[in-house]
Order: sequence, then C-alpha cells, then structure tokens
Amino acid sequence: MIVVQAAAPGWAAAAAELARELALPLQASDDDSTEAVAAVLRVGADGLALRAAGRAAAGAVAVDFGAGSMRHRRRGGQNELLGRAVGVGKITGLRVLDATAGLGRDSFVLADLGCRVTLAEREPVVAALLQSGLRRAAAGADPWLRQVVARMELWSADARQLPLSQLELQDVIYLDPMFPPRDKSAAVKKEMALFQRLFASESAGRDAASLLDWARRTPVARVVVKRPLKAASLGDTPSHSIRGKAVRYDVYVLRALTSTPVPERQP
Ligand SMILES: C[S@@+](CC[C@H](N)C(=O)[O-])C[C@H]1O[C@@H](n2cnc3c(N)ncnc32)[C@H](O)[C@@H]1O
Repeated sequence: MIVVQAAAPGWAAAAAELARELALPLQASDDDSTEAVAAVLRVGADGLALRAAGRAAAGAVAVDFGAGSMRHRRRGGQNELLGRAVGVGKITGLRVLDATAGLGRDSFVLADLGCRVTLAEREPVVAALLQSGLRRAAAGADPWLRQVVARMELWSADARQLPLSQLELQDVIYLDPMFPPRDKSAAVKKEMALFQRLFASESAGRDAASLLDWARRTPVARVVVKRPLKAASLGDTPSHSIRGKAVRYDVYVLRALTSTPVPERQP
C-alpha cells in the first residue's frame, strides 16, 4: 500500500487533496513502519517524492527535469539514437505519443530535441510524480526548462484510452514498456528497485506485446519500441533497428512521415 503524507504541517491540505484524488490513505504521523505500508508519497515544497517505507529506506524518487542527470542526458549519444529512431529532422514539429511515460525521461529528451510530446502514464501515482515534475519545471526560473516542458502534455491514463482525435494528431508512438535490467549506478538501482516492486506487474510482458499491436493499428506513421540490446523484438521483425551500447530501438514504419499543420500550444 502507498500512503500520502505532508512533508510539513503547511502541506497538510495539499496532501489531503492528493490522497482524495488518488484514493490513497492519508498518513498524518511520521510512522510508516506498519507492514502494510510499502511506500510513502510525500507532498512538500519540492513537489512530490516517493520513497520506500521504513526509516532506513533509500532515497526518494522524484521527477526533477532540472537535475544534473537530466542535463547530462542531453549530451548523451543515446539521445541522438532515440531522435533518429522517432524521425527527428524528417519533419518540423514532429508529434510523439510516449505511451509508456514512466518518469518522463525519454519524453523529456524528445521534447528537448524539438518534438511535441503527449505522455500517457497509467499508474496514477507515477502520473502524479510526473505532473509534479512538469509543474515545477514550468514554474521555475530556467527558460530552457520552461521551453522544453511547454512541449510536453500529460494524460494520466492508459494510452489505449486516448481518444481517436488525439491519436490522429500523432506522427509516432514510442514504447518503453519494460523495466530495464539493473543499472550499475547505485542511485538508479534504488530507484528501479522501488519502481519494479511497486509497479512492474507480472503481466507487463504480455501487456507490452498487446500494446505494440494496438500502436500498429493507430493512424501513426511509425512505432518505436525501446528494447534491451540483446532481447527479442516485441512483435514480428521491425522495419529496422537502431542499436546503442545497451539498448536498441526497433522501428516499425507504417507510412512516410508527413507534416500535418497542428497549432502550437502556448507555454
Ligand atoms: C519502463 S517505464 C518507462 C520509462 C520511461 N521511458 C522513462 O524514460 O522514464 C514503463 C511505464 O509505462 C507505464 N505503462 C505501461 N503500459 C502502459 C499503458 N498501456 N498506458 C500508459 N502507461 C503504461 C508503466 O506504468 C510504467 O510507468
């Protein structure tokens, strides 16, 4: 069970509101040692953060697009591969639906590359963390961050429930459905361990293949699937693959990418 908690008394009303929205129990005291409590979603001045329950628990998971690690990702070669896979540069204002948004890192990279990104996240707690990170970046002082997140729009929903009118706007659907194997970095390990425990369901593998089937039936021009480098493809053989050091992007080309005039959202 995940419980909601205010980081300080001044955040009690916001915590109560969030608990109501997410239909989660509100925990007033600092004691989360009850066995039933798996994690605590904390509301405070820095937005939302999720941490495993227990006093000795590892650091919290939060979405901070301004963090050094996100800025570092900007310069990574993997971004270039992701950009190539979705077709950055082929048309202006490329629109991508990230149908498995997670903590929004890949979406942020795509928005930084100039794409307009619709994010869909079906786990309400993960979507809440993401919304908090987007709001914080949009309200922050960094003009680069504000510009990037102005190109990102979140739907707290299963991607398959998006209306056809939304799907028709998209050029590409991007899927990263699987939690990757453990990373070498300790911080990432903790983050992924908590996420895997809370959100990776046993059916995720089967679900991922059906998500690809769904994506290929939508009106988009291509579907891109992120896979561990040596894993089998999710569906039949892709049109082509772009290989990095640890991951691979399988590209299913359904038709040529062409520009459709869509009005820009105002930041
Ligand atoms: C491996 S994580 C994605 C990580 C993400 N690419 C990032 O950069 O942070 C997969 C996420 O997809 C979400 N998900 C899986 N199937 C989904 C669906 N059908 N619709 C929306 N979200 C989905 C899961 O809840 C999970 O948060």
